[in-house]
Amino acid sequence: MNIKLIEETYLKKINQFIKYNKSYYLESNSIISDSDFDILKKEILQLEDRYTFLRNKKSPSLSVGFKPSKNFQKIKHKVAMLSLGNAFNEEDLENFEKKIINFLSLKNSNSIEYSAEPKIDGISASLIYVNGKLTKGLSRGDGNEGEDITQNIKTIKDIPLEITLSNFPEEIDIRGEVFIENDDFKKINDKFANPRNAASGSLRQKNSLITAKIPLKFIAYTYGYEKKMNINDQTSFLENLKLWGFKTNPFNKKIIGVKNLILNHKKLEKKRKELAFDIDGIVYKVNDFDLQKRLGFAANAPRWAIAHKFSANSSTSEIMNIEIQIGRTGALTPVAKIKPVNIGGVIVSNATLHNEDEIIRKDIRVGDTVTVERAGDVIPHVVLVDLKKRKQNSKKFIFPLKCPSCGSKTIKDYNEITKKQDAVRRCASEGFECEKIAIERIKHFVSKDAFNIDGFGKKIVENFWNLKLIRLPQDIFMLNYSKVEELEGWGKLSVANLKFSIEEKKNISLERFIYSLGIRHIGQENAKLIARHLKTSPNFFQLSGESNIENLSNIDGIGNTQIQSIKKFFLNRTNRKVLNELEKNLLIKDVILINSKGLLKNKTFMLTGKLNGISRAEAKSLIEQNSGKIISNVNKKLDYLISGEKPTVQKVNTAKDWNIKVINQAEWLKMLNKSS
Ligand code: IVH
Repeated sequence: MNIKLIEETYLKKINQFIKYNKSYYLESNSIISDSDFDILKKEILQLEDRYTFLRNKKSPSLSVGFKPSKNFQKIKHKVAMLSLGNAFNEEDLENFEKKIINFLSLKNSNSIEYSAEPKIDGISASLIYVNGKLTKGLSRGDGNEGEDITQNIKTIKDIPLEITLSNFPEEIDIRGEVFIENDDFKKINDKFANPRNAASGSLRQKNSLITAKIPLKFIAYTYGYEKKMNINDQTSFLENLKLWGFKTNPFNKKIIGVKNLILNHKKLEKKRKELAFDIDGIVYKVNDFDLQKRLGFAANAPRWAIAHKFSANSSTSEIMNIEIQIGRTGALTPVAKIKPVNIGGVIVSNATLHNEDEIIRKDIRVGDTVTVERAGDVIPHVVLVDLKKRKQNSKKFIFPLKCPSCGSKTIKDYNEITKKQDAVRRCASEGFECEKIAIERIKHFVSKDAFNIDGFGKKIVENFWNLKLIRLPQDIFMLNYSKVEELEGWGKLSVANLKFSIEEKKNISLERFIYSLGIRHIGQENAKLIARHLKTSPNFFQLSGESNIENLSNIDGIGNTQIQSIKKFFLNRTNRKVLNELEKNLLIKDVILINSKGLLKNKTFMLTGKLNGISRAEAKSLIEQNSGKIISNVNKKLDYLISGEKPTVQKVNTAKDWNIKVINQAEWLKMLNKSS
């Protein structure tokens, strides 16, 4: 065949492929049999294989399907929209401040200045302004990717469409909360349970003419990214927002020290009911932008901000039954089924009893009258038993010693750090052998921070499990779609959407992949550390050998608990089978360090002794920001041992013996072009 003919044949096949694909995904109409479609796909791939100059954007080798017609287009946030950690009392706030003081290596007597902002319970939105014009409005989505809701956003009167003031940044992503005031909600509350749902529903519906009729409000409070903004702290930023024409919260305050935060919290909590909108706490942000930058982010939330929730609402009810739920890690959690009560506007019928020890300590029994508390989005829990109302024939609750799901024995771990037995009893089976654990592990696998498969929620996992469509994580990638299509509530289009979401997520980062496996003690932060250390998925799959796993102890932050847990995971045959199947079905991306051109590129560091004016945590984060790597043992891979005051002599000696450079703080800072 000559080149021209090859190209023509190829293009013809691509065009057929696009046509069939479109009619299948968008018009829910199959005009070709599945097997013919697969043959066509194969022919295209074979042509591309043989003639490498052939490449088309729409080729099946590059696209996973047709983007299903969803209500809104998805757009990646340039800077992720994160959540906040919670504080419930003075102790939590003291700890929050202590961590900041330690991280920044400040003197304990330093009092930190905060911007305290009432936390409105609405829906967050991101508004992109370019040269003063509102160009895009996005919902939060999963934090990384939001929905393009520009048309609906533009109907909100509080949102300026154009800003001409000279100090308005050239480009900025202004973030804030869209909400409905309580009085307005009362006028339209025929469809929604509470103001938050009403705001979310109105903002995310297709017809912007309907959105325009809902009295949505917007309060601005932060930014994602900016170009040419010259502002040094949060309170000045809030002042500028007002000048630029945004609404800000009238109860925002600048406050110094934890004691004053508490006073302000008490005052505002009293005023809460009189406000025109719902607030569920106060957000505290370290005021100084330079300090915010130094503090940076942990896995999911900034180190420089926290949400101080208002105290819980409570009610009394009666325990009808105590059920044992089994979690992903095998933990047996007792849950009280209570007579439904309204607690602060929400009907509650389940309340957690935490663990076996808690039941014994409070002597909680079926039939007891109890006080149940609920705070914001936290799971309701039983706080106390009214013994005066205890029924005469009541019996102590006997906690099961065998797993109620699979009958295995249960165990309480010994905690090496506290030198005590855990309060939590766990099913001793190894994961997928226990039905309840297996379901919870699959729920975790598809969850937001793991595979994040759109439209594959907890209910669907349970449903598919009951129908025997899934038993192990890999089954998700081999779903019998024609069976799903026959199920009630499913049709061609919804199945095509599900298939698209699943195919789309076959391409996954190593850190998300590791996290998704739900290995005990390997949360997001540890998964990230391990992924960065191993860099590629083959390195992860090869971990099964004991010595390979031991090597992970070189990672600063991974200790014996994590190592033992990973070993246990790899020892289990089913887990190894799952990994094998997943490896075949997925495309796991190698780790590419963001700032791989940093000053410390390809260099490994270890710290010993105390540094001056900078905490260990900040030093670590500074090394990582500059593409360096931290390791926690002196070994052949180590390039520099940074030795501070009172270093461990043995470490310094070993490093010297192995010709590893031992440098002091000043020499290290010089590498970063900084002076001490
Ligand atoms: S700052 C990383 N400021 O709280 C910084 N958030 O749990 C996070 N919220 O999704 C955002 N009032 O919807 C910030 N004054 C305020 C806020 C606020 C309410 C919401 C927001 C966010 C959630 C974080």
